[in-house]
Parts: sequence; C-alpha cells; structure tokens
Amino acid sequence: MTNLLIVNGSIREGRIGAPIGEWVKQTAEADGRFTVDYADLAELKLPLMDEPNHPRLKKYTHEHTIAWSERVAAADGFIFLFPEYNYSYAAPIKNAVDYLHNEWNRKPVGFVNWGGNSGGTRAQVAFRVVVTALGLVLTKGNVEINFPQRQLNDGGEFEPNEQQRLVLTAQLNEIVKLSEALAPLR
Ligand SMILES: Cc1cc2nc3c(=O)[nH]c(=O)nc-3n(C[C@H](O)[C@H](O)[C@H](O)COP(=O)(O)O)c2cc1C
Repeated sequence: MTNLLIVNGSIREGRIGAPIGEWVKQTAEADGRFTVDYADLAELKLPLMDEPNHPRLKKYTHEHTIAWSERVAAADGFIFLFPEYNYSYAAPIKNAVDYLHNEWNRKPVGFVNWGGNSGGTRAQVAFRVVVTALGLVLTKGNVEINFPQRQLNDGGEFEPNEQQRLVLTAQLNEIVKLSEALAPLR
C-alpha cells in the first residue's frame, strides 16, 4: 500500500475546497492501493511558520511542527488541493510546505486546483516552482476545475465530470509508480 497524504489548502468559510477534497479523498480510499491520510489545513490550523531554525536542520521547537513533520514523513506521496487567489495559489498551502524540508524530499506530488475561467492554471504553475525546491517530484497531469460551484449537486457534493475523473485516476497511477521508483533515493 502507498501512504498517500492529501493536503487541502482551501480554508475559508464556505469554501468549495471542502466538497472537492471529499471527492479526492473518497476516490483515493476507494482505489484500494492507498492508505489515505487527509490533512485539512482549516482544521490543522498551523500558525504562520514560526520555527526559529531552518527546517533542513529538523530542530523543531513547537508541538504543531513535530506533529506535522511526523505526518508528512509517514507519507510516500501527496496530493495538494488549492484554489487560485489573485493569479496564484492560496497562502495556507505555502505555509504548510515551508514548515518542513526533508520530509518532502524525493516523493511524488499531484495537484488538484480550481478557479474561475482558468481552472487554477496560474496557481498551479506558480506552485510548481515551490515544490521543486523541496525535492518533490511532480506527476504529469493535474486536475483543473473551472467554476467548480457549477458541479455541486443538491446535497452539496462535488460531482466530477469524466475528464476530471480520468485525470485524477491518472494522477493516482503516477503517484504509485513514482513512489516506488523514488523509494531507493529516499
Ligand atoms: C481572494 C480571492 C481571490 C481570487 N482570485 C482568483 C483568481 O485570481 N483567479 C480565479 O480564477 N479565481 C479567483 N478567485 C475565485 C476563486 O477561484 C473561487 O472563489 C473559488 O471558489 C475559491 O476556492 P475556495 O472556495 O476553495 O476558497 C478568487 C477568490 C478569492 C476569495
């Protein structure tokens, strides 16, 4: 089994990120190849990065950092979920990755992003640069959702279209393969 950590970086009240996150989580759980951990940054409530030392040194001083470090270290791969705000990614996702360093290294990461017309394209392009600094290895495809509110059913659940389903499955496949291929380097 691949230990998958899904990190949801959408935290505001009324966020569409909650039902999107539920879809991604349920899909990964139903897949059968993953042990899924789901980090909802709205619940985790990490303060703005407040450690005195560079994360590379792993000299963490706060309980919230140690707990976050253990959770990320246990993962073999990640999916980051985030909306586009002002042509870039939402701030909580950056804060969550900045806390740590080696825990991310040589592990695959896929993105699920959303926004208006662009589907969060600008956000994911901006975030690509950040994850490469941490040694994360990107999957080929990422799920992009434009105007996701239009895909909520009467029960408030996100209903993916065929394309979104296919890309998420392709991303999960890539995470399994990359995780195995990168394991000797970790
Ligand atoms: C502060 C803010 C800035 C936004 N900027 C953009 C943007 O630059 N591009 C875009 O496509 N959508 C933008 N939007 C629209 C969001 O993509 C949309 O509100 C989406 O629902 C946000 O995801 P969330 O509900 O999970 O927070 C913005 C929304 C907010 C709240």
